[in-house]
Amino acid sequence: MIEISNVSKSFGRIKALENVSFKVNNGELVGYVGLNGAGKTTTIRIIVGVLLPDSGDVYIDGYSVLKEKRKASMRIGWVPEIPIFEPDVKALDYFVYLAGYYKISPSEARRLGKELFERVGLSGTENRKLKEYSQGMKKRFALAVSLINDPPNFVFDEVLNGLDPEGIKFFRELAKNFKKQGKAVLFSSHILSEVEALADRVVFIHKGRIINILTMQEIKSMAEKKLIVKLDKPLEKIPEEINSYGVPVVEDNTLVIRKFKGDQSTVVELLLRQGYKIMEVKLEEISLEEVFFKLIGEQK
Ligand SMILES: Nc1ncnc2c1ncn2[C@@H]1O[C@H](COP(=O)(O)OP(=O)(O)OP(=O)(O)O)[C@@H](O)[C@H]1O
Ligand SMILES: [Mg+2]
Repeated sequence: MIEISNVSKSFGRIKALENVSFKVNNGELVGYVGLNGAGKTTTIRIIVGVLLPDSGDVYIDGYSVLKEKRKASMRIGWVPEIPIFEPDVKALDYFVYLAGYYKISPSEARRLGKELFERVGLSGTENRKLKEYSQGMKKRFALAVSLINDPPNFVFDEVLNGLDPEGIKFFRELAKNFKKQGKAVLFSSHILSEVEALADRVVFIHKGRIINILTMQEIKSMAEKKLIVKLDKPLEKIPEEINSYGVPVVEDNTLVIRKFKGDQSTVVELLLRQGYKIMEVKLEEISLEEVFFKLIGEQK
């Protein structure tokens, strides 16, 4: 479990994070969504202990990142937004060096390295220098490194950025397996639709503050289709058949069918048959990104 508790952080006069608190439970995939500069990477760097907060703390399976750093960091894997490695070292050699942090012997680390390179799709590139790796290959390498000690918690910072469709598929499968194994996973993105397929919940951050935490189901129900029909007079009684098109709501002369599905012309015909005149018909479709902007806008 990852628990962020009242974390604040400033860079000079910029307040990057203000009282950020949220949890990622075991067996849960949580998306961390915000615009560029919202504070996602800053939060993630504090979670993994490479950046100190001004106040607040993070607990990894109950271990404080500030007070029990080693225990906390052994229990969390991290794929940074921009992985930075020694450029002139061969990939597998560098992997073996990093595995040393986890007290894994060089021979065992080589065996594990080959296995993980295969898993992340880097087989055959073990002897290439890291500076020769492409952006996506660096991400895949960082994934392999994060898997070294099979930790129970993970944070992924914009991990899909730079990955090709095969890499994206690999990551999605990996994340689903982590969930099955009861691991806690936080992954950031500035695009809500990118986390849609995976996230159980989404934490929204805007200008350093958590503005909303919603389940994916709640978000999807906000991104619904709505049919709005304006009539010449108030609708006295909602015709029974309308219920099969969604959830009807009447307000004065207007009929709104939330979660609309089906054909709008048949709804219009139905109302015409009942003796109403149709003044206006509008189908509103709210995309996930529009929901995101709505959530942000509500905070202004
Ligand atoms: N080392 C630093 N020095 C000064 N300011 C910083 C530093 N790191 C981050 N910031 C500032 O903190 C704020 C949050 O940045 P952060 O990198 O956490 O955003 P982000 O949500 O990850 O954005 P992106 O989607 O672009 O990756 C920004 O205003 C950024 O300019
Ligand atoms: Mg970032």
